[in-house]
Amino acid sequence: MKIALLGFGTVGGGVWELLQGNPDWDIAWVLTRRTRPELGSRAVFTMEPILADPEVELVVEVLGGIRPAFDYVAAALQAGKHVVTANKALMAAHYDELTALARQNGVALRCTGAVGGGIPFLTALERVRRLDRVRSVSGIVNGTTNYILDRMTREGSGFDAVLADAQALGYAEADPSADLDGLDVRRKLVLMANVAFGVSLREEEIPMAGIRGVTAEDIAAFRQAGLVCRMLATASREEGGVSAVAEPALVPDSAPEAAVPLNCNRITVTGERLGEQAFFGQGAGRYPTAMNVLQDCMDIASGCRSFYTERALPCPVDNDTLRRPYYVRTGDEKPFAGLIAGRLGPGFVTRPMAVPELHRRIPGCRFTAAVDNAFFAQHFA
Ligand code: HSE
Repeated sequence: MKIALLGFGTVGGGVWELLQGNPDWDIAWVLTRRTRPELGSRAVFTMEPILADPEVELVVEVLGGIRPAFDYVAAALQAGKHVVTANKALMAAHYDELTALARQNGVALRCTGAVGGGIPFLTALERVRRLDRVRSVSGIVNGTTNYILDRMTREGSGFDAVLADAQALGYAEADPSADLDGLDVRRKLVLMANVAFGVSLREEEIPMAGIRGVTAEDIAAFRQAGLVCRMLATASREEGGVSAVAEPALVPDSAPEAAVPLNCNRITVTGERLGEQAFFGQGAGRYPTAMNVLQDCMDIASGCRSFYTERALPCPVDNDTLRRPYYVRTGDEKPFAGLIAGRLGPGFVTRPMAVPELHRRIPGCRFTAAVDNAFFAQHFA
C-alpha cells in the first residue's frame, strides 16, 4: 500500500524504520517541518502533493498538536484517504468532526497508538463491545508520570532529576506540562470513555489534577503507610451519564497498579459479563507506539473501514455521586475545616468527598491524591 507519513519525530521515525525493506508498504511522501536529506525527494512541506496523489490510500499522522494536524487529517479524510493517527490531543479535541468525516467519506480512521502507546487497548475495547456492555475503563495511561512516580517511590529520588531522565528517554511530550498536569491522561481518558460507552465527552468537563507538586517527603510518607502513588484515569457508566476523572491516586502497595514499573501502562476494562480484563505494556516510546500505528495500517490493508464505534452520543460528565477520600497537602487548611479525617505525613486525609467538591479546592493546594477506599476504611473511618 502506498502511504504518506505526516511527521518524522520520535514515532514517525519509528514508523519509517520499521517499514524499511518491507515490500508491502511504500512511504511515498513524508511531510516534515525541516529538510531531511535522508528522505530525498519524498520530503514535502505541504499537503498538496499528498492530496493530489491518487495512489496514496492512507495517511499516517504523527505530527502531534492540534494545528495544523486537524487541517491535514480533515483534508485527507475528505480526499477519501484512510487515516491512522497517534495524536490524542487532536482526537480528543475534534472527536465528533473527525469520526463524522471518516463515516461520511467511507474511510477508516484509527488511533490505537493514541492510548497506551504500544498497548492495543482501543482495539480490545472494540472487541469487548461487540459482545458486552462496558461498565468502566481505568488505569495508568501516562508513561512519563508513571516513570517519575515509580522511580521516586523505589529510589527516594527527587522530582526534577527523574523528569529530566524521562525527557531524555523520549517519553515526555514536547511540553511536559501535558504529562505533569494531567492533560495527556485526560485526552486519553476521553478516547477510552468515548469508545467504551459510545459517547462523546467534552474534554474540559473532566476534572483533572497532576503530579507537579508531589515531593520526596510525600512519597516517603505514602511508602511508610503501605501506599503507592499512581496517576490514574477512571471512567464509568452512571445513571445520568458518565463519570470521568484524571488524578493521582494512592493505592495499596499490593495493588497491581503499584507494581507497574517505569514508563509502563496498565489499563483495565470491566464488562458486565466479561468482568475485569487488564492490559499491560510499554505506554510510551518510539517502537511500541510506532508498532500500534503500523498495526492500524495493517488492519486497514486487511479491509478495516471504520472507527472503533459508530456511536458518539453527546454526554455530560457527571461526577456528583462519586465520593473519594483525599490526601491533601496545603498551606491553608481552612477550606477543609470539618473534612479532615486524620494526618498522613506532611498532609492530611479527608473524609470521603464528592469529586467536584475536592477539585474546586485544588487551586489552593500543593498536592492532592485520591485515597484507596479500603485503606481509608481500615485506618481513618
Ligand atoms: N507523553 C506520553 C506518555 C507519550 O508519557 O505516556 C505517550 O502517549
